[in-house]
Amino acid sequence: MTDITLVHGARQVVRVDEDGLDTIADGSVAVADGTVAAVGATADVTDRYPIGAAETVVDASGKTVLPGYVDPHTHAVFAGERVDEFAAKLGGKSYQEIQAEGGGILATVRAVRDATLETLTENLLDHLDVMLAHGTTTAEVKSGYGLATDAELKLLEAIDRADDRHPIDVIPTFLGAHAVPEGEDEAAYVDYVIDEQLPAVADDDLAVFCDVFCDEGAFSREQSRRVLEAGIDHGVTPKIHAEEFARLGGVRLASDLGAVSADHLLRATEADAAALAEAGVTPVLLPGTAFALGAAYADPTLFQDAGAPVALATDFNPNCYTQSMEFAVSLACNGMRMTPAAALRGATRHAAEALALADGRGTLREGAPGDLLVADVPRFEYVPYNPGVRTTDTVIKGGEVVHRE
Ligand code: NIG
Ligand code: FE
Repeated sequence: MTDITLVHGARQVVRVDEDGLDTIADGSVAVADGTVAAVGATADVTDRYPIGAAETVVDASGKTVLPGYVDPHTHAVFAGERVDEFAAKLGGKSYQEIQAEGGGILATVRAVRDATLETLTENLLDHLDVMLAHGTTTAEVKSGYGLATDAELKLLEAIDRADDRHPIDVIPTFLGAHAVPEGEDEAAYVDYVIDEQLPAVADDDLAVFCDVFCDEGAFSREQSRRVLEAGIDHGVTPKIHAEEFARLGGVRLASDLGAVSADHLLRATEADAAALAEAGVTPVLLPGTAFALGAAYADPTLFQDAGAPVALATDFNPNCYTQSMEFAVSLACNGMRMTPAAALRGATRHAAEALALADGRGTLREGAPGDLLVADVPRFEYVPYNPGVRTTDTVIKGGEVVHRE
């Protein structure tokens, strides 16, 4: 027997497909056995899928139905917090100064090395709960706070366990090349990532992607190339933190290697945007990071004008402490001046492209996975129009109600 979930009578349904989005007034969505079976006017959908015949019924009167958000860049598995650094940043200290004093990523590395697998898993599950309550149904999570084989494996194992235990689909990325551990030689550490960490991660099949922090104070373009090429050799697809603080050529590297995404891009140029578009690398913009650093936002028009699909992510980490894709959408509009429609596509379909998800994730159309949310707003523009307020009310994952206010 087919299991039907019916979300009916919405004031607005936002249908998103590979080509764009359109809105339906007084709309409904039917999900059959986990897959979207109908999106359209309530009268049409309930004709095919009557309310009385559905196992699960969600009344969306006065509300808006959207695809679930996909968050394609997070560092959500860690221990400790860095709230004291927040005060230091507000007092004028730069991210690099904090890092040079042993804070920043290195402070989180100390906390992670001291934490158990169970603690890391529980911490991640707590963060996933917050993400879900804000409408995220798929999230990428990076390692990168272990910086040693055992600690990196512990982080990836925590991601794997949390994925099993939580409704959000969690996609793991290996980021051993996130920073050079305290007291270690940079060149020797790159060799260690390539010769020991990566093979161990690949042997246990713990990562879909391999990322590298290509920046001043982190890894050079050549070091990044070596790490990402080694990842490719192990069957792990490249991603890159590129052109955030300094323009080291990470975008060109991403384009050469056919990376799935290049992320941050605060210092990218028009030529960089063209190179990404040409190579089919998805640019991922992280407005929360610029917001938390007090830095200038990336310029989405560079990438839009080049014809690239602009994806959005939270970058949730102890330096950029927001789990909310609603907030990322809001910053994209209010800070980066994206249109609400472009921001919504960035947080759904294009975000799924940044994770090479070809199963229709990030869309809301017939045949897509039944991942959607009901927002307690009359139309989708209210998500960015009403910053700082949670608009998500009900979240459905694979046809199942997994969060309800
Ligand atoms: O994407 N840029 C490098 N990595 C993270 C920050 C991680 C941290 O500060 O803990 C980022 O912003
Ligand atoms: Fe990051």
